[in-house]
Amino acid sequence: MNSSKLSKVYNAEDFKKQANATVELLSNHLSNAINGKGKAIPYKDAETEYQFWNDFEFTSAENFFENVLDRSVRTHHKKYMGHQVGATAPLSAIAGLVSSFLNNGSAVYEMGMANNAIERIVCELLSNKVGYDKNSRGFLTSGGSLGNLTALLAAKAAYLNRHPNAKRLGIMVGEQAHYSIERTGRIMGLEAEGLILLPSKEDFTIDEHQVEKNYQRALEQGIEVIAFIGNAPSTATGKIDDLNFIAEFCQKHSIWYHIDAAHGGAAIFSTTYKGDLKGIEKADSIVIDGHKMMMLPAITTAVLFKNGTDSYNTFKQKADYLLTATEEEDWSNLAKRTFECTKNMMAIEWYVMIKAYSEDIFDEFVTKTYDNCRMLADKIKQHPSLELAVDPDTNILCFRYVHRAKTDQELNQINKEIRQSLLEEGDFYILQTILNEKVYIRLNTMNAFTEEADYDLVLKKIIDLADSNTLKSQ
Ligand SMILES: Cc1ncc(COP(=O)(O)O)c(C=O)c1O
Repeated sequence: MNSSKLSKVYNAEDFKKQANATVELLSNHLSNAINGKGKAIPYKDAETEYQFWNDFEFTSAENFFENVLDRSVRTHHKKYMGHQVGATAPLSAIAGLVSSFLNNGSAVYEMGMANNAIERIVCELLSNKVGYDKNSRGFLTSGGSLGNLTALLAAKAAYLNRHPNAKRLGIMVGEQAHYSIERTGRIMGLEAEGLILLPSKEDFTIDEHQVEKNYQRALEQGIEVIAFIGNAPSTATGKIDDLNFIAEFCQKHSIWYHIDAAHGGAAIFSTTYKGDLKGIEKADSIVIDGHKMMMLPAITTAVLFKNGTDSYNTFKQKADYLLTATEEEDWSNLAKRTFECTKNMMAIEWYVMIKAYSEDIFDEFVTKTYDNCRMLADKIKQHPSLELAVDPDTNILCFRYVHRAKTDQELNQINKEIRQSLLEEGDFYILQTILNEKVYIRLNTMNAFTEEADYDLVLKKIIDLADSNTLKSQ
């Protein structure tokens, strides 16, 4: 190389030094976080953060990474109870580094030989755990949102194959569905009437008694329902729809059955909780996120199809320079089935976990975090000043502070301020949501290292804040 700067960029010795120093940093970060040292979220408002990085003087990569760690959410922290992105298993993060380093784009076989073969093995394992037979196929893609879109585009393609003149299409889903479903509907060009949001029962799952009525109304409006999506679980409440009921309904009306199991799909590995996903094997397509409940780095999602052929029908288009038409199944040229052309070598992040720790590791993780959620729910139920929105199905929990003398409006303000105050303090990271116009504190028992004492402490903090009369609205 003639440029001395470029030679420095690719200097193998420098790389080793920088990588070792960074791993040293991450290793300290990990041990502090798991032991609960420091804050779960060092919260600063967005303008302050922007100013900090604008004024930041870069002295070395190590110093830069140190600052990034100092100023980022610690998903490994045992008091992290935040969004549904798990603490990455370090070995899987190392696979992520290998993926970033190799940059094997994986769109076509020869550009991702190891990864593409491994991806098939990972998807076969997942399909097998779901209960699919040998006709199933799957692939990995960048996130649950893209996974839902890809699966529903396959549903559309399958419907249009049978009804080429269909125009006004619709999809049905519980009103608690993740917003990626609504976005998918828009991208698919559905009209407002085409997104049929089904009302919930008191427990926030689809009200089975309302389904036929809504379906018939759609038909009367001239909408052809092409897919019904089950939540396993819904994001806000963590509740799982009756997957068997939806399966029967879809079979009766010849509708594609998709399950958004981005969060809860990992429970197929849990000896204790896999029964809660009964009926999952009847779905035509399923989405499972590895970065939520399987300890993998963001972002990696499996899209599984009961009938493998369906997985090839979504993006049938001409891209001759990439994809050569073949008589035989072309499983190894992944861009035929994914929205992405280039993508990460995400399969190696799953595979290394399965092989190094065996698939039992997913059982242990899911079962522990789900158990913790039930333990916390019991504590909340027993507390006179706390109210649970609904018993948990997974590891997502919504509850609120209550007081007999306060109106719902006042309670909404108090709960909002409790959460804001905890966010700014940063010892714990918890969330909030609104259900039936009531503000709830929402938390996910995402971290397997969180102990009972940590859950006791967060509840105590919540009660103390509410009782101390120090909140703005009090
Ligand atoms: C039920 C559900 N579906 C889809 C998604 C979107 O997944 P991703 O963030 O991987 O795009 C989420 C994210 O929280 C989710 O909870």
